[in-house]
Amino acid sequence: MTRKTVRIAMNGVTGRMGYRQHLVRSILSLREQGGLDLGDGTVLWPEPVLVGRREHALRAIAEQHGLEHWSTDLDAVLADPSIEIYFDSQVTSAREEAVKQAIAAGKHIYCEKPTSTSVAGAVELARLATEAGVKHGVVQDKLFLPGLQKLRRLVEGGFFGQILSVRGEFGYWVFEGDWQSAQRPSWNYRAEDGGGIVADMFPHWDYVLHELFGRVRSVQALTATHIPQRWDEQGKPYDATADDAAYGIFELEGGAVAQINSSWAVRVNRDELVEFQVDGTHGSAVAGLRKCRVQHRSATPKPVWNPDLPATETFRDQWQEVPDNADFDNGFKAQWELFLRHVVLDEPWQWDLLAGARGVQLAELGLKSSAEGRRFDVPELSL
Ligand SMILES: NC(=O)c1ccc[n+]([C@@H]2O[C@H](COP(=O)([O-])OP(=O)(O)OC[C@H]3O[C@@H](n4cnc5c(N)ncnc54)[C@H](O)[C@@H]3O)[C@@H](O)[C@H]2O)c1
Repeated sequence: MTRKTVRIAMNGVTGRMGYRQHLVRSILSLREQGGLDLGDGTVLWPEPVLVGRREHALRAIAEQHGLEHWSTDLDAVLADPSIEIYFDSQVTSAREEAVKQAIAAGKHIYCEKPTSTSVAGAVELARLATEAGVKHGVVQDKLFLPGLQKLRRLVEGGFFGQILSVRGEFGYWVFEGDWQSAQRPSWNYRAEDGGGIVADMFPHWDYVLHELFGRVRSVQALTATHIPQRWDEQGKPYDATADDAAYGIFELEGGAVAQINSSWAVRVNRDELVEFQVDGTHGSAVAGLRKCRVQHRSATPKPVWNPDLPATETFRDQWQEVPDNADFDNGFKAQWELFLRHVVLDEPWQWDLLAGARGVQLAELGLKSSAEGRRFDVPELSL
């Protein structure tokens, strides 16, 4: 086997996503398995160069994982011709500028969503990257979750007949930070810092709906800031200026209607932190992060509404588990592998910066819909 090294500047690896999902569960995990086997006698060996603002934090991560390269000087890293890929999982508000810089330096781009805090900025990134001829990609990890992969299998296998509706429930209680520390960073709750659940989750809902059920044609949303005061990482109170819940309705190409609740102020009474129920003429499914259950029309009970009598059936027991029938790897890692193959082997790739811009567009229109109390069409974006 020949080993081909690909050097990746990773900016934002001290953060939740950058460290756990991208560095440890994706890049380091690829190294633990001996690199990415390209199938032609070559193994691709990802070599991360950790980039960030705090030297001690970068050094600590590097030492913990036996990594040699880190830097607080983004300009110098981007000027290094041996680095081919720039990856960004910084706070959202810092992304656009850094990605622009990396495009100008001729690096291939891979980054977290949302790609920018505005549609104009997100489309501009897609245009610049395309014009520069670099490869570009955006994290769309939910597509690679076992539960949604099984759902995709059902859609593609024609299980549902005509799909009528999709109902999504996402959320959990994020502690305010006073008597128990918050489990999400405080910038998520400040609009001025790029926070808000719409900016965070609508980009996910855009690609999930688009890829599984059809392009989103219109959006109507009502957002709320249910918890107006929170406590930050230093235990200081601050005003939550961003939305912490969004109740959205999405019309899809092909006629299905999707309705998705997203909330950081909800207590979980579900099997998983996100679940989608899909109802079709021939069958229904409920898919979560890992599991997926179905009910075919032939096994559908015929309940009769009578509030005078207790329920005689346990409806949830009437569903059938969809088997894995495959090994599912970590979703972030699975997408990294495809991106690396796209960069090195020029294999097909659809989750580019324009796809990322669609997610930002849905978030922007969702917020506008809530502010103005109107439903908005979602126009097709182009460069
Ligand atoms: N794909 C997903 O499922 C998913 C999930 C959560 C977050 N995200 C995205 O990942 C990105 C990072 O989110 P996170 O939860 O890891 O955030 P985080 O606060 O844990 O990490 C943020 C990172 O950005 C760096 N940073 C750079 N400039 C900064 C500044 N001015 N202020 C604060 N930090 C700064 C921090 O040092 C840190 O490395 C966000 O864009 C978010 O939307 C994606």
